[in-house]
Amino acid sequence: MLTRLGTALLLGTALCASAAHAQDRQRPVTAQDMDAAYEEAKTIVAQMQPEEKVRLTMGILALPLVPGAEIPEEALMSAGFVPGVPRLGIPALTETDGPLGVAYALGLRGDYATAMPAGIAMGATFNRDLAFAQGHAIGAEARAKGFNVLLAGGANLARDPRNGRTFEYISEDPLLTGQLIGWNIAGVQSNEIVSTIKHFALNGQETGRKFVDVQISDTAARESDLLAFQIGIEIGQPGSVMCAYNRVNGEQGCASDYLLNKVLKQDWGYRGWVMSDWGAVPGLYAAWNGLDQQSGSQLDPDTFFDDELLAAAEADSDHMKRLDDMNARVITGLIATGVLENPVATGGDIDWDANAAVARKAAEQGIVLLRNEGNALPLAANAESILVVGGYADSGVLSGGGSSQTHPEGGPAVSRPLSDSGAFSGFISEQYQRGAPLDAIRARKPEGSVRFRPGRYSSDAAALAAQSDVVIVFATQWMTEGVDVSDLSLPDGQDAAIARIAAANPNTIVVLETGGPVDMPWLDDVAAVIEAWYPGQGGAEAIAGVLFGEVNPSGRLPITFPRNVAQLPREDIPGMLEYDPDFAGNPPSPDSKLFTDYNIEGSDLGYRWNARQQQEALFPFGFGLSYTSFASSDLETDGASASFTLRNTGERAGATVGQVYLVSRDGEARQRLVGFERVELEPGAETTVNVEIDPRLLADWNGDGWTIAEGVYSFALGSDAETLGQSVDVQLPERSWTD
Ligand code: BGC
Repeated sequence: MLTRLGTALLLGTALCASAAHAQDRQRPVTAQDMDAAYEEAKTIVAQMQPEEKVRLTMGILALPLVPGAEIPEEALMSAGFVPGVPRLGIPALTETDGPLGVAYALGLRGDYATAMPAGIAMGATFNRDLAFAQGHAIGAEARAKGFNVLLAGGANLARDPRNGRTFEYISEDPLLTGQLIGWNIAGVQSNEIVSTIKHFALNGQETGRKFVDVQISDTAARESDLLAFQIGIEIGQPGSVMCAYNRVNGEQGCASDYLLNKVLKQDWGYRGWVMSDWGAVPGLYAAWNGLDQQSGSQLDPDTFFDDELLAAAEADSDHMKRLDDMNARVITGLIATGVLENPVATGGDIDWDANAAVARKAAEQGIVLLRNEGNALPLAANAESILVVGGYADSGVLSGGGSSQTHPEGGPAVSRPLSDSGAFSGFISEQYQRGAPLDAIRARKPEGSVRFRPGRYSSDAAALAAQSDVVIVFATQWMTEGVDVSDLSLPDGQDAAIARIAAANPNTIVVLETGGPVDMPWLDDVAAVIEAWYPGQGGAEAIAGVLFGEVNPSGRLPITFPRNVAQLPREDIPGMLEYDPDFAGNPPSPDSKLFTDYNIEGSDLGYRWNARQQQEALFPFGFGLSYTSFASSDLETDGASASFTLRNTGERAGATVGQVYLVSRDGEARQRLVGFERVELEPGAETTVNVEIDPRLLADWNGDGWTIAEGVYSFALGSDAETLGQSVDVQLPERSWTD
């Protein structure tokens, strides 16, 4: 493949797609592919004229949001555009968000896309194949629309459930996040386009996102957030890594020698390119610290990575070498994924039905049943009167705001702007995607048996609740990029409304459409709770399917639901009260300082923090109920792999997620998810599951590499992080290695 490409370039011929090659790409890109592509890329860079060397290094925001910015015609009204070098067969980069479907980009293209569930819903599936399928579907739409770079792969760990982008990311756990995002990226890239992984790294809050300075030790970072990226990159080999807005230990993420040169390129040997987040480049020096490409340059103080970069390179041979490397890295990502050999074009066919089926399956598998007293669910066939309340359930399902916002056909059913002022006010709004849960519920019941109240006032809802067999309350918590949520309550008085309705009718079922954990002060008073997250365009049918028992819920929490914010490492999000919500996240003044101390929890996020603090969650990581029951047994492990048996002990077919945890080392609490597998089982059926244990999960970062200390490691099966079953102790010898 590479030789054919090289020959074509030398002959200056146009490159055309090959079906056989497209099939090859079902196999994920490997590190060896990236290494080989880098060698090939260097031969192309050797043919570049000096001025051609600063084309691939600088991109623009390809949307008319910044006054006066010129957007070339070939740019597709999207997040980004980088001109190509046609003379050498290098196409322009056409970049679109994002992780949850091709983003709508203010509607300026006038198109639509399949809206997948939120990233956290994908996390809840614990399903690698589905993560691949979802990525494949989104990537196929991106390619058909003419995009060759998908700004996807959100891999930041949930250090704070109030982070406004919690919905976009996968989980609080490095293994779960790394594996699912890795397969998701592989799915995107199976279309011969580039996927990013983002935002590298430690981008854990939106408040002051461009200047918050997170404090963390190398050890803690390597054992948590960086490990998630490392695993994701190993599996998915994304063509590009997008660096983050925030500062890390005093340096901007996109100019961090530590993150970009040391960790990513030196220690992990990453060969693709680092693109900046939009408006995250502090200066030309970022290039020397490892940044390869300035994106959305109109949003930065200056266009550092064109003439200024060339002048610096022409004045200094080391800088010229670096410039060559920057180009080679961009081209590496394009070669390894197949973009160069099979260029994208607009107007491709999209298999909308197939992609809709993926969206629905992902929504179904992501739904988590949190409570089901007296088997209130599935809904009894004899429920004659059902009252549905709130959450715009008569119109659609909630989605998250920001760059990942996707519009399925017809655009949003409901759109409530965050505010009326500011450049992004139209962009950032609480949007409900089409597909009304009320319609899906009504379709399953006789006419006239299902009533609806918007829930704006709880008095009428409570009065009608008292007259109904069942009440289904849709409760929403909207999250958006750019703004964190202030606390974990359900906003706009929904908690009080639920309490009042449940007091009127205890047979109340709450359907949560939230971006992450919420408080549930009314929990003991309701019959059932399902967490549907932001379920995407298949959400209405998926929710109704679970309520009526056509779908047996199988999602597991990818994030701890705390009892209250006092259980979190930080009671408040730093800066929340000092700084006004600001989508751009710019510092009010150059001297504005904002610190978030991640050394408090170190690498112990979520359930690991709870284990360390000896506190119990409201709902722990890994938790989820089913309409059947499961048992796990026969754990065997030598510390390198583990096997165990899962059995469906109930009466219905269903799926469960087998979980193996490291629990302690030499008796000292040290909890880590070390293996998981989602399996579907018929009633009475059992299966043996084998998982490899990534040794990094047992090890400590020693400054240069990993060390497994000699000791007794205790492993246990878990139905969640707090409900642990059979355990096995393994004596392990000391072992050290480097990445
Ligand atoms: C976001 C990125 C996104 C980029 C381009 C930024 O504000 O942080 O996730 O890819 O915009 O839209």
